[in-house]
Amino acid sequence: AASLPETYTIRALRKSDYARGFLDCLRVLTTVGDITEEQWDDRYHWMNTQGKGGYYLLVIDDGSRVVGTGALIVERKFIHNLGIVGHIEDIAVAKDQQGKKLGLKIIQALDFIAEKVGCYKSILDCSEANEGFYVKCGFKRAGLEMAHYY
Ligand code: ACO
Repeated sequence: AASLPETYTIRALRKSDYARGFLDCLRVLTTVGDITEEQWDDRYHWMNTQGKGGYYLLVIDDGSRVVGTGALIVERKFIHNLGIVGHIEDIAVAKDQQGKKLGLKIIQALDFIAEKVGCYKSILDCSEANEGFYVKCGFKRAGLEMAHYY
């Protein structure tokens, strides 16, 4: 597997990433909104005290700011003999950092965690425009996404 550029590291999300551009990184994906530091702390705390509920948020840090992120949410089921499924969510690489294999690195790291915690598969939803990226990451088209907005 390709290595990260020098000075770049991939690591778990930290509370201090609020001040390292984590939310700006996510803005390449979709609307984030104006999230105060207090709201950030609450959500961060919830995700981390749900440790057993399985939120794994990773970031790529270039040495000064967050330039990439992705999440794995681990779902525990009754079916398939108490099967465990990984859900890959909110993959984002800063615009000026795309095309350097950072997205691939994030997916590889999330895949590694998913397999290690016992997931029998990982699944995700994406647009047609991103299908090629996920195919390069080893995923294949399966099923159809449906949504009910409230
Ligand atoms: N279509 C086809 N191939 C692609 C695409 C694409 N949209 N994007 C990247 N690739 C290819 C690359 O060319 C590369 O191929 P190569 O190995 O032959 O050179 C390979 O996939 C790996 O690409 P990376 O350099 O790792 O991709 P990058 O770091 O730019 O990250 C990402 C890709 C995450 C899609 C990025 O462009 C991005 O943040 N886009 C905006 C946000 C977004 O759409 N996120 C995904 C939403 S879906 C979800 O979150 C589950």
